Amino acid sequence: MLLQIPGVLNQGEIERLRSELAQASFEDGASTAGFVAREVKRNLQVPQNSEASRKCGAIVLDALRRNTMFYSAALPHRVHGPVFNRYDPGMTYGEHVDNAVMGGTVSVRTDLAATLFLSAPDEYAGGELTVHDTFGAHRVKLPAGSMILYAGSSTHHVEPITSGRRLAAVLWVQSMVRDQAHRLSLFELDISLGALRQKVPDAPELSTLTALYHNLLRMWAET
Ligand code: NI
Repeated sequence: MLLQIPGVLNQGEIERLRSELAQASFEDGASTAGFVAREVKRNLQVPQNSEASRKCGAIVLDALRRNTMFYSAALPHRVHGPVFNRYDPGMTYGEHVDNAVMGGTVSVRTDLAATLFLSAPDEYAGGELTVHDTFGAHRVKLPAGSMILYAGSSTHHVEPITSGRRLAAVLWVQSMVRDQAHRLSLFELDISLGALRQKVPDAPELSTLTALYHNLLRMWAET
């Protein structure tokens, strides 16, 4: 899965996050990387236990709670993060795979990873998130407030920044539905149901198909 979710944040939220991050203190991103990723991680991030991280995190989590596409695609059980990061010229994050399990007292299995872009594409050069899946490499650079959601098992990297500054939030999701194929089937069924409801609101099959969705979710969900 590699899914773009546009407009996760509204303009007011983007501005609040950016003004908060402009005053926040950042630390070396390598401090939270795994043993191998540490060797290739060259960025800055806001310490996760800081007040700035807590305030900004609440804005992002609130925006995700109202986003039906995120909910439908991820079927989130637990979220780790968001972690707010910054890339200045020369910074990069080389090829790596994220840790399978993250978190402190509550562990989160990283079924899905997400990057929420906080800088506009024309504010920096380079800095594409490049994700590898079975169809090849995908280079992603989205408008501020938009998010890319991808399988936590994907290898990925952030291209070096050559000018400007790239701000982003990254987070990881443990899904209620662990199996990718099951999760994708539910997402496609949900999207199709939504489209059908628009086109033929009184189709009698809608209730049967909606029941099928919930019964499959009941069969596969772990909470
Ligand atoms: Ni990563």
